[in-house]
Amino acid sequence: MASLTIRKLDDALKAYLRLRSAKNGRSVEEEVRVILRELADAGTEPTEALGAGSLAVTAPAPRAASAAGGPKVTLIIGGGIAAYKALDLIRRLKERHIQVRCVLTKAAQQFVTPLAASALSHERVYTDLFDAESEFDAGHIRLARDCDLIVVAPATADLMAKMAQGHADDLATATLLAANRPILLAPAMNPLMWNNPATGRNVLQLRRDGVHTVGPNAGEMAEAGEAGVGRMAEPTEIAAAADRMLRPPQPRPLAGKRVLITAGPTHEAIDPVRYIANRSSGKQGFAIAAAARAAGAEVVLVTGPVELDDPQGIAVMRVESARDMLHRVEAALPVDVAIFAAAVADWRVASEGSQKLKKTAAGMPPLQLVENPDILATISKLKEKRPPLVIGFAAETEHLIENAKAKFARKGCDWIVANDVSPATGVMGGDRNTVHLLSREGKDVTVDSWPVMTKEEVATALVSRIARQVGTGS
Ligand code: CTP
Repeated sequence: MASLTIRKLDDALKAYLRLRSAKNGRSVEEEVRVILRELADAGTEPTEALGAGSLAVTAPAPRAASAAGGPKVTLIIGGGIAAYKALDLIRRLKERHIQVRCVLTKAAQQFVTPLAASALSHERVYTDLFDAESEFDAGHIRLARDCDLIVVAPATADLMAKMAQGHADDLATATLLAANRPILLAPAMNPLMWNNPATGRNVLQLRRDGVHTVGPNAGEMAEAGEAGVGRMAEPTEIAAAADRMLRPPQPRPLAGKRVLITAGPTHEAIDPVRYIANRSSGKQGFAIAAAARAAGAEVVLVTGPVELDDPQGIAVMRVESARDMLHRVEAALPVDVAIFAAAVADWRVASEGSQKLKKTAAGMPPLQLVENPDILATISKLKEKRPPLVIGFAAETEHLIENAKAKFARKGCDWIVANDVSPATGVMGGDRNTVHLLSREGKDVTVDSWPVMTKEEVATALVSRIARQVGTGS
C-alpha cells in the first residue's frame, strides 16, 4: 500500500487541505482520510472532489469542560521576565485537577526551558509552528481546539498586539487565531508599555473580541526602581480565574447564611498523657461543612482532634475537650443554622492529674467521672441567640429509631439525623452512612429514611434539605 506525504503535495493543494482541515477542526492527515472515504462512498473521481471551490464546513462548537481527567488548558507562555511564574501557574492549575499543555514562544524560551514546562505539566511542550512532527498533524489546530480554555501567561504587549491584528506567524499566534475556545490573558509588561495608548487600543479590541483578562497588578517591576501597573497577576489568581471560566458557578442557596458545624470526637484528659476519646473520624461533619460552603454559606467548623485537612474557604477551630467545644460554639453565635455532628465525650474525669498517674501497690487509681456539658441541648434551649434551625445527630448501636426519638424529645433541637454506628455498619471511621432524618410536623415526628450513601452524598442531601428550609433560593 502506497503512503502519502502531505509535504510533497503542491502548495495550492496543501493550502486547500490546511484550510479545510482547520475549518473542520481535524488534522490534515485526518482530513485527507475523510476526503478519500467520501470519494469512495460517492464513487467520485478524486480530481472532481479536490478541485471543488466551495466548502460547506463548520468549526466545532465550543464545548463544555472535558469529562474525563478534568478540564484541559492550553497554556501559552509568552516571552517576558514573568515567564518564570508560568511554571508555578502550571502547578497551581494541576492542583485544581486541570490538565495543562504548554506552548512556549521563542522569546519565552529565553526565560524558561521547554523541559521545565514539560516536567511540571507531564505533557509534551510545543514550540514550533513548522515542527514537521506536530504540524503534519495540524498541531496548532489541535492545541487551539483540543482544550477547554487557552491561557496566555505572560501575555506580552507584542503578543497582544499580534492577537489584536490577527497575526499567525508562530505557533502561539497561529493557535490563538485558530481558537474557538475561551481565551484568558494575564498581561505582564513595563508600566509605560501597559499605559501606552497602542497597548490600550489592543486590549480594548481583544476584550471586544471576547477575550478575558486577569491583572495586571500594581507593584515593583523587574527593572530596578520602577513600579506601577504591569506586574503579571499571581499564579494563584490566574488559576482561580481559569477555574471560574472552566467551572461556571453553581447555585448558592445558602448565600448570606452563617452555618455552624461541630465535628469529630473530643479528648478528655485524664492526665498529661492519657485521655478519654471515641472512634469518630470527623468525616461526616467535615463533609457537611464542605457542602454548606459549596452552597454559599459562611461556615464555622468547630472540630475535635481529627486527621483531616481544613476544607477550603472554611474557618476551622480545632479544640480538644467538650468544654472547649462549647466555648467556641457559644462564641460563634449568632448563626442561621447549627449542626452538631460531633461525637462529644459524655464524661470527663472529675480532676485531671497534673502529672502522669503512676502505678502503685494500692492498685488501679479510681477514676471519678463527671458529665460534660451537652452542647446540643444547651444551644437548643437558649432564650437569646438560639439559631433558627438546630440539627443534632443520634449515634446509636441498637433500637435506632426508638432511641433517636427519645433523644429528639430530650435535646430540644429541630431535626435529628439518626445513624446506626454499631461496629458491623463500619460508619465510625468509614466513608458511608445510612441515615434517617427525624423532624416534626405539628406534634408528630416524621422519619425520612435515606438509602446508604457516601458521607459526601449525605452531606449534600442534608444541605439541600436545609436550603429548602432556610435558603434564599438563589
Ligand atoms: N452532643 C453534644 N454534647 C454532648 C453530647 C452530645 O452536643 N455532651 C450532641 C452530639 O453532637 C449529637 C447529639 O448530641 O448531635 C447526640 O449525641 P449522642 O452521642 O448520640 O448522644 P448523647 O447525648 O451522648 O446520648 P447517649 O450517649 O446516651 O446516646
